[in-house]
Amino acid sequence: MNSIPLAELGFNVTGVDYSSKCLDICKNNCNKLNLVQSDIRTFNIEKDKYDLIQSRFVLHFFHKNDSYKIIKNIKDNIKLNGLVYIYVLSLKDSKFKKVSNSLEFESLENNIFHNKTNDTYISFFTMDEISNLFKDFKTICISDEYCLDLDGKTMHYSGFIKYIGQKINN
Ligand SMILES: C[S@@+](CC[C@H](N)C(=O)[O-])C[C@H]1O[C@@H](n2cnc3c(N)ncnc32)[C@H](O)[C@@H]1O
Repeated sequence: MNSIPLAELGFNVTGVDYSSKCLDICKNNCNKLNLVQSDIRTFNIEKDKYDLIQSRFVLHFFHKNDSYKIIKNIKDNIKLNGLVYIYVLSLKDSKFKKVSNSLEFESLENNIFHNKTNDTYISFFTMDEISNLFKDFKTICISDEYCLDLDGKTMHYSGFIKYIGQKINN
């Protein structure tokens, strides 16, 4: 979502998604993006290439073992002084209660839920957890937000952690 305005401003932006449908939507809205079809769990982030890496509304769709590996990949390879922007679901999101009470989901440790029907995961994060994952970065801002989401198919309460930090050590 933030990639298009950044590309329109003249930044060289690479967007990664494994869905060709999502990439086509991006392509149709902006012809200035470099789009790569890849699973972000295996995407090779070229070292010291990126000044900003953002993951918005994606990392909670994995088991946290995978989310943590992706975060490590981002931290290890972003340029020194580069910025990271992370946006993930928090425990306050209405989906947390919903999946906790659903027979379709198995509750695992650390606020991770496994959907037994389609073998997918959804995970919920806390501000302390994100701060801790980025303890060697300088926090520019971190927030634990809660709002009524009117954009989706159904009106619901949305809870999310937003983090912006800077790599200050190699
Ligand atoms: C809720 S959308 C968010 C899209 C965009 N980041 C935004 O903020 O508008 C989640 C996106 O993650 C992509 N996605 C989910 N799992 C992925 C994976 N393993 N590798 C790459 N992309 C993935 C989906 O295809 C979808 O486009």
